[in-house]
Amino acid sequence: NAERRILIAGNWKMNGLGADGGELAGALAARMKAAPQPFEMLVCPPFTLLSRVGETLSGSAILLGGQDCHAQVSGAHTGDISAAMLKDAGCAAVIVGHSERRTDHGESDAQVKAKAEAAHGAGLMAVICIGETEQERDRGQTLDVNARQVAGSLPDGATAANTVVAYEPVWAIGTGRTPSADEVQEVHAFIRAEIAKKLGADIAGGMRILYGGSMKPGNARELLGLADVDGGLIGGASLKSEDFWAIGESC
Ligand code: G3P
Repeated sequence: NAERRILIAGNWKMNGLGADGGELAGALAARMKAAPQPFEMLVCPPFTLLSRVGETLSGSAILLGGQDCHAQVSGAHTGDISAAMLKDAGCAAVIVGHSERRTDHGESDAQVKAKAEAAHGAGLMAVICIGETEQERDRGQTLDVNARQVAGSLPDGATAANTVVAYEPVWAIGTGRTPSADEVQEVHAFIRAEIAKKLGADIAGGMRILYGGSMKPGNARELLGLADVDGGLIGGASLKSEDFWAIGESC
């Protein structure tokens, strides 16, 4: 779909120390500066590397993002980072509601929605993650779970410009397993229809829906070629510049 530019997003998770992170970002920036690309690229390092990676990426058209933010702008929340702080550190986007946050920190749809609203308030694009667990899939609840998460996690003020949805089946994250291409397309088309119910067909038609979960150079072409897949949210393979770049080039 010409309206939706492919977004290749890297989620480094809790990986990366100074020199390695700088090198990885430097390799990507050099490639992006060498030739304009049809895809948009976003890199989300841990908070400690934001300024270093941001400096390395500057002037390269690669966007910088955080991996989480607090729902409030400031205050007594030890260890948390606000969306305004991410913006101040040079970010254009933030991931919210990743399944690892939902599991490790018990984040609910309502909290994810509040974080996405905070991101919008700070002028950041929110990358809102949803996706079913293996148990839910086995019970035949995949579509219900994703419908509930779309309804509960997306703010009413979400637009195609300020929001990206990432469908990450939890059982495919870091496991090397992925749904079949037909299954991915079916869920993405369903998610787009649920977004349309909530926000209208125009917004849903323009909003990017990324696939995440064991995306790598070997399966990226097939996944990124699906009608309702508008990019990838990549974990493990985003830690190697060759692999991450190859995923972008396969779109
Ligand atoms: O957010 C990206 C992610 O959860 C996918 O991780 O390692 O399966 O690509 P991975």
